[in-house]
Amino acid sequence: MKVAVVGSGVIGASWTTLFLRYGHEVVATDPAPGAEDRLRAAVTGDQTLLTFTADVEEAVADAGFVQENGPERPELKDGLFAALDAAAPPETVLASSSSGLLPSRIQQACGAHPERVLVGHPFNPPHLIPLVEVVPGERTGEPAVEAAMAFYRSLGRKPIRLRQELPGHVANRLQAALWREAYSLVDRGAATVSDIDTAIAHGPGLRWALLGPFLNQHLSGGAGGIAHVLEHLGPPMEEWWADLGAPSLTPELAHRITDQVAEELAGTGVESLVAERDALLTHLIEAKNRTEHL
Ligand SMILES: NC(=O)c1ccc[n+]([C@@H]2O[C@H](COP(=O)([O-])OP(=O)(O)OC[C@H]3O[C@@H](n4cnc5c(N)ncnc54)[C@H](O)[C@@H]3O)[C@@H](O)[C@H]2O)c1
Repeated sequence: MKVAVVGSGVIGASWTTLFLRYGHEVVATDPAPGAEDRLRAAVTGDQTLLTFTADVEEAVADAGFVQENGPERPELKDGLFAALDAAAPPETVLASSSSGLLPSRIQQACGAHPERVLVGHPFNPPHLIPLVEVVPGERTGEPAVEAAMAFYRSLGRKPIRLRQELPGHVANRLQAALWREAYSLVDRGAATVSDIDTAIAHGPGLRWALLGPFLNQHLSGGAGGIAHVLEHLGPPMEEWWADLGAPSLTPELAHRITDQVAEELAGTGVESLVAERDALLTHLIEAKNRTEHL
């Protein structure tokens, strides 16, 4: 299939790597000077199936799927989606990578075929992280949702379909909930940045990479499963919920966090950290793919 990648920055380049890996023809478009060179430098794998044009209409004219990754600015997405809707074949799904915009808002700009517009929100980098959140808007049709789910599955992704449009979708809200308490604990002086990073990366984070919060809770209940856990740990959990913080990002807290992150890194280069993390992530995803239930 021919896939159009609209906006070839960080996310667009990573999607391009994934689409090429699965043998799709990719036509990328981006108006920025030097965009093609930057894209070709960022993309890994065989680029013989990759073409580039600065003309967005030409890019999507015969595309079977459009993945939009332009800047996260509502007015810009409006203009862009109006152009995509006018130029792409009527059946072609127009998926936005948007982290924050709601699909009902995005599809308002699409006078011709809003029923094929949705959010297909990846996790950075989409060529490694399998999650994609598929979010239909008020006017999105079922065929478009099913086509997007099937397309992402065909790329080895793990799409979830959201039942409601929410700011931040689902996964970023879950992260935000954890960050809220992490920031609050540093604010209260109950733990340092480094303590919290250790607690997650060497504690629950290890299991969360394998199974989600509910199945982990179910497994911690032994034969009685989650019903047993909720019976005896439900009341204390509610007490903890009542005590969770709601910190404000004051300049003082922001400085404290920034300083403590620098202390934690203590000279370790960010580039080598990213390289180690991504190499291990690749092994982990491959290992998970070899298991039966994970
Ligand atoms: N970076 C992340 O972690 C992340 C994760 C998930 C989703 N997203 C979403 O992906 C989208 C892109 O984010 P990014 O981080 O790749 O940003 P980015 O700034 O790296 O890339 C945006 C690209 O869009 C191009 N662009 C500008 N005007 C355009 C137009 N009219 N048509 C097409 N392209 C245009 C820019 O030249 C740039 O190359 C955003 O909607 C963002 O919310 C980002």
